[in-house]
Amino acid sequence: MDVEIAPGPSLKGAAEVPGDKSIAHRWLILAATGAGTSEIHGAPPSLDVRSTARCLTGIAPKARPSLDVFAKKGASAVEGAGSTWNDQVDLSPRTPLQVEGEGRRGLVGPAAPLDCGNSGTTMRLLAGVLASVPVHSVLTGDESLSRRPMERVARPLREMGARVSMSDGHAPIEVEGCPLRGITFAPEVPTAQVKSAVLLAGLSASGETIVREPARTRDHTERALQALGAPIAITPEEIRLAAFQHPGFAGAVPGDASSAAFLIAASAVTGSSLMIRNVGLNPSRVHFLAVMERMGVHTTCTVERTEVGEPVGSIEVEACEGIAPVIVEPSELPLVIDEVPVLAALAVHAAGDSWFNGAGELRVKESDRVAAIVEAIRGLGGAAADEGDDLVLAGGGLEGGRADAGGDHRIAMAMVVAALACRGPSVIQGVEAADVSYPGFVQALRRLGVLIEEV
Ligand code: S3P
Repeated sequence: MDVEIAPGPSLKGAAEVPGDKSIAHRWLILAATGAGTSEIHGAPPSLDVRSTARCLTGIAPKARPSLDVFAKKGASAVEGAGSTWNDQVDLSPRTPLQVEGEGRRGLVGPAAPLDCGNSGTTMRLLAGVLASVPVHSVLTGDESLSRRPMERVARPLREMGARVSMSDGHAPIEVEGCPLRGITFAPEVPTAQVKSAVLLAGLSASGETIVREPARTRDHTERALQALGAPIAITPEEIRLAAFQHPGFAGAVPGDASSAAFLIAASAVTGSSLMIRNVGLNPSRVHFLAVMERMGVHTTCTVERTEVGEPVGSIEVEACEGIAPVIVEPSELPLVIDEVPVLAALAVHAAGDSWFNGAGELRVKESDRVAAIVEAIRGLGGAAADEGDDLVLAGGGLEGGRADAGGDHRIAMAMVVAALACRGPSVIQGVEAADVSYPGFVQALRRLGVLIEEV
C-alpha cells in the first residue's frame, strides 16, 4: 500500500505503542518452555511476534491451543486489509494470553519446518532452545531472512554440543538437539539475538555458560531469567548462567521503545510536544533518546513500574526548536541498532550533516538498511551517501518525493517520519511493512493529526 503525506500539522494528544517485539518473543518462548501456566498481557499482534507463536505451536503441545489462536488472530486483517492503516482492525488484546508450559522436557519434534517468516529473533532464539531438545527441527524464513547470516548462531551452539547445519551460512537451519555443555562465548560482533540463543541453550547445559559481549546489547533475556529466579550473575563484563528450569510467570509487555522512537521523531520534526505512556524504559533500549538529546530533542522519562525485570513508564517529548546534526560513533551503534533509520529521518532535517559510523551490521538486517536509507532519502529529494560502513546524511530538509520501503518495516516508518517535514507532499510505497513491528502505525499518526492518506 502507498500513502501520501502532506507536511505541516503539529501532533496533538498522547499515545501508546504496541507491546515490545523483542520482549514478547522472549516471554512467549519462556512461557511455552516454562514449568506451569504463564499469563502474558499486551502481547503485540506484530507479524514477527506471531511468527514466534506459530513456531512454538509446532514444538510445545500444551501451549499450542492459546498460541495458535494468538498466531492466527488478526492474520486475515493484517495480511489482507492491512492493520497498520485500517481503523476497523482491533489491535488491543483485552484478554491476557494464557500459555500452558510443561518445561523444556515437554517439547516435541515439529511435524513440519518451523517458519520464522521475516523474524531473525525468532530463528536465532529458537535455534538456542532447540539445541538441547533431542529432536530434529528445521527453521525456515522468508526471502529476506534466508539472506541473513546464521553461522554466527550455529557456531556457539555447535561448540556447546548441538548438531546445527545449513548451507552457505543461511537458513534453512537444521538443528539436532544434544546434551549440551556450558561454554565461554565471546562473539566478535555484538548481537543480542545470538547472546540470547546461547543463554537459552545454557539453561539446559552442564556447567556454566559465560557470555562476554564486545559491546552492550539489549538485555531482555538476562532480565527475564533473573526475574524468574535463574542462577544468573550479570556484571558489565560478563553474564554467567547455570542450568535452570524456570516456572510459569505473569507480566504485561511494555510498549516498544523502538516504535515510540518513530512518534518521538515525528513530534520533533513537526515541532510538537507529545506524551507516550506505558512504554519500556530499559536502558539498553533507550540510548536513542541520548542521541536525540544531542540533536536538540528533549525528553523526560519516568519509570512507574517493573514487569518481569523490565522498567516501564512514560516518555514526555518537549516541542523541539530546531534539530542539530549528530555524529554517532561505532561504540554506541549497537545500542541504537534499530533506531538508525529513524535517527536518519531526523538528521535530514538538521542544520548540517550527520554521520553514523561503523554501521555495517545494518547491512544484514531485514534489508541492507544503509543502502535502503540512502536510496529512500534520495527519493525524497535529500542527499545521502554510504562510505564503507559509514552513513552520511546532508541536513537542510527535504523537498519531498517518493520513497519505497523495500519490504522493511523500519525503513517504511522512518520515511513516513521524514516526509512529515518535507517542503512538499511525498508518497511512501509499501507502508504495510510496518505491520512487522508496529501494526497500527498509520492509524496512530492519523489520530495524532497527521495528514496521511492511502493513494
Ligand atoms: C533483537 C536484537 C537486535 C535487533 C533486532 C531485535 C532482539 O539484533 O536489531 O531487531 O530481539 O534480540 P542484534 O542481534 O543485531 O542485536
